[in-house]
Formats: sequence, structure tokens, C-alpha cells
Amino acid sequence: MAKKELTIIGATGFLSTTITKHLVSLGVKVQVVVRDPENAKNALPDCVEIVQGDVSDAESLIRALDGTETLYIHLNTETTDMNLPFYTEREGVQNIVQAAKHNGVKHIMQIAGLESLHEEFFLNGTIETRKIREAGMKCIEDSDIPYTFFYCSFFADSFTRFVDNNVAYLFGILPHEAHFTSSFQLAGHIFEAIDNSQALNQRYPVQGSEAMTFADAAQRFFKVYDPKVSVQTLPLETIDQLGLPLAEAAFLKRIWEVCAGFEERFVSGETYENLGKPSASIEALAATLKENVLS
Ligand SMILES: NC(=O)c1ccc[n+]([C@@H]2O[C@H](COP(=O)([O-])OP(=O)(O)OC[C@H]3O[C@@H](n4cnc5c(N)ncnc54)[C@H](OP(=O)(O)O)[C@@H]3O)[C@@H](O)[C@H]2O)c1
Repeated sequence: MAKKELTIIGATGFLSTTITKHLVSLGVKVQVVVRDPENAKNALPDCVEIVQGDVSDAESLIRALDGTETLYIHLNTETTDMNLPFYTEREGVQNIVQAAKHNGVKHIMQIAGLESLHEEFFLNGTIETRKIREAGMKCIEDSDIPYTFFYCSFFADSFTRFVDNNVAYLFGILPHEAHFTSSFQLAGHIFEAIDNSQALNQRYPVQGSEAMTFADAAQRFFKVYDPKVSVQTLPLETIDQLGLPLAEAAFLKRIWEVCAGFEERFVSGETYENLGKPSASIEALAATLKENVLS
């Protein structure tokens, strides 16, 4: 069977580096479009083809997407400022869509958050930046290029970002259980969606198969990832005392407020039917991430 091929924009990020590595390990021929090829060369496996391109530069994308049939977009918006002239996930995605049309791209996939599909799960409201991302996704939909959107629950990978001095800090009152997903689960779904006509023009929720609280998930994760790390939950207001720049503290506080009000149901039955059930537990994710860190 011919090798599956995929171009990724945003392959060098926190989650997307692991997603890209996992797709390579599944046998996908991956090309990445990156701002900084040298950085990408250091971060990604040698077999990944690297092309220079910046989503703020439409001409660079027209060159970079030459020959691409299937594209996965993995960008991010981390700000509480809703009045910037350029966001990668809105104006950047508009540039991507133009370049994709120009090059005859046949399928565009993109990561999104579960809030854009199931707002009702978010009792404390949702992250404001979803509006930026949704405008970019609307542009993809309007392009008539078939799309697949992945609306993800929280990534268990993210726990590693909250560690300081062997303590993983969670903030606020977090009573509800969530179906934590992982970079491995999403990579598996992307893999199954490539060259799959059933996945065209679909909106898939992406949730893990087990429900657990944030504290339980973090404890299970670190027991394998690094048993020296203990998990501590602090009041939300503590974020104001961390000495972070104001905008960063505001964004972090809002994220944890949203987490506190996140009460989800399992809605990913169809995703599992069409794209497979994730096999990796939170412990298996932690073990593999640990290996990657050490290697
Ligand atoms: N964390 C969660 O629990 C969660 C849950 C649901 C959904 N998500 C989604 O996950 C995504 C964030 O993933 P992440 O943490 O992996 O993101 P990230 O670390 O911020 O990575 C963003 C990527 O975009 C690239 N990029 C930025 N500006 C660019 C430009 N002008 N041109 C080309 N590339 C550019 C970055 O490249 P450089 O390396 O050059 O900077 C990087 O590869 C968001 O869409 C978010 O909605 C996350």
C-alpha cells in the first residue's frame, strides 16, 4: 500500500512535536511548513521534510504547499487581547486557505477545542480566543475544500507544563471528571483520517475513554512520568502572586477558571467508530513521553 502523506503547519509546538513524531512512527511521510527550519531540524525526526513558510506571509505558503494533498493545521492563540491585527489562527488560516486553493489541496484537518462543539460542557464560560479560531475554521469550511475538525478535550500531556521544583500545581476548585485525551490519541485519529473519505467534512470530538478528576489524572500521570513530582492544588488567586507578566497571569487564570467549570459527558462514540478507539492509557502516555524526554 502507498505510504500516507501529510503536510503539517505548526509541527514544532508543545503538543504538535509529539503528534508529528507519532505520525512518523505510524509510517506517514510527513512534510512540515515552519518559520525556522533549523529549529525544526533539531526538534523533529530526520525523515521529516522541512519547508520554510510563515502563515503571515501568503507568498511563502503558496510555495510551501506546492504538491500537498492533505494538510493538518496546528496553530495556537494564547492571549486575552481580542483586538490584535493578526492572529495565526484567523488571518494566518485565511492565508493558508488561499495557498491551499491555489495548490489544489484536497483535504484540510485542524485541531480545535471541545468548547467549539459542546459549549454546554463549560459552566464557567469558555476561553475567549475560541472566536478567533472559529473564524479561521469558518474560512476553511467556506473554501469548499473538504475538512476534518478535531475538537479536543484536555490533553494529559499538558500536566508537564505545570511543574516547578518537583511539584505539579493545579489551580482552583476542580470537582468534575474529564476524559483527558493525549497527543497519541490525536495522532492516531489524524492517521486514520488521511485518505479516508468517511472523515471528510466531519467534526469529531476527541476524548479519552476514561473519566477522572484533574488531580487524579495528574497523580496517575506523574506516578509514571516522574514519581518525584507531587501534585498540589492551590486557590485560583495564587496565580496573581506568581510574579508572571500581567497578560500571562490573566490568561492562565482564565484557563483554570474554565477548567473548574468543565463538566463533560462522553460524546466521542462516533469518533471511535470512524477513527478507532485510543489504546494508550494515561500511564502509557506518561511512559512514552518520559522515554522521549530521556532520549
Ligand atoms: N492544551 C490542551 O489541553 C488543549 C486542549 C484542546 C485543544 N488544544 C489546542 O492545541 C493547540 C495548541 O497546541 P500546542 O500547545 O502544540 O501549540 P504551540 O506550542 O503554541 O505551537 C504552535 C505552533 O504554531 C507555529 N507557529 C506560530 N506562529 C507561526 C507562524 N507565523 N507561521 C508558521 N507557524 C507558526 C509554532 O512554530 P514555532 O515553533 O516557530 O513557534 C508552533 O509550531 C491550540 O490550537 C489549542 O486550541 C489544546
